[in-house]
Amino acid sequence: MKTVCLLGSPRRGGNSDTLAQRFADRAIEYGASTEMVALSELSYNGCINLLKCKGQLSHCGQTDDLTPVLQSISQADVLVIASPIYFTNLSGQTKLAIDRFFSFFVPGYPTAKVKSRLSSNRHIVLLQTQGEPENRYADVLDQYGASFDGLGFNNHHLVRAWGVREPNDVEASEYFLKKCDEIVSKIYKPNCSPTSG
Ligand SMILES: Cc1cc2nc3c(=O)[nH]c(=O)nc-3n(C[C@H](O)[C@H](O)[C@H](O)COP(=O)(O)O)c2cc1C
Repeated sequence: MKTVCLLGSPRRGGNSDTLAQRFADRAIEYGASTEMVALSELSYNGCINLLKCKGQLSHCGQTDDLTPVLQSISQADVLVIASPIYFTNLSGQTKLAIDRFFSFFVPGYPTAKVKSRLSSNRHIVLLQTQGEPENRYADVLDQYGASFDGLGFNNHHLVRAWGVREPNDVEASEYFLKKCDEIVSKIYKPNCSPTSG
């Protein structure tokens, strides 16, 4: 299963990167191919409402560092988004990238039966880190849920690490890392054979 991981934190090697690396390492054991994309190392805009993707083009009308990433995502069975909470929502780097997913919607998508250029039954995994406690921001994936459904990413999975502020807080918590393992085994087990473990 082709897996693309978007690393949405500008702090490389921090908590969300750690969750993403754990996820990828375990997915590889199940035979998945994984691509890690550090968004903070790319230069790209959010959607600027050119609407070329709803007219003469069947892809985003902007050409920048996100162009090949969008191409990879269009072929991904599993999209992993690893992001810290910044000011109550996903990081800006993450949100700009998600806005570009608009190009996956077909012209007339609001009323179309099939809204997406992408096939359905794909998986989206949100690996969310936050400094505040467990009771905050439990609904972020749900906020995006209907849009991801429309795009074809209609199997949603969430791993949250809360109360983590120092860059190695997640690394020190077997609890949060095991949550990643649980989701990996749920997604990949029916389709792939583990090569180890
Ligand atoms: C600019 C900024 C804004 C933040 N806003 C929030 C917030 O609103 N709520 C929260 O729980 N944590 C907030 N945090 C804390 C981060 O979510 C937390 O430290 C997280 O573990 C960082 O992930 P990383 O190590 O992958 O960068 C904020 C951190 C920064 C730098």
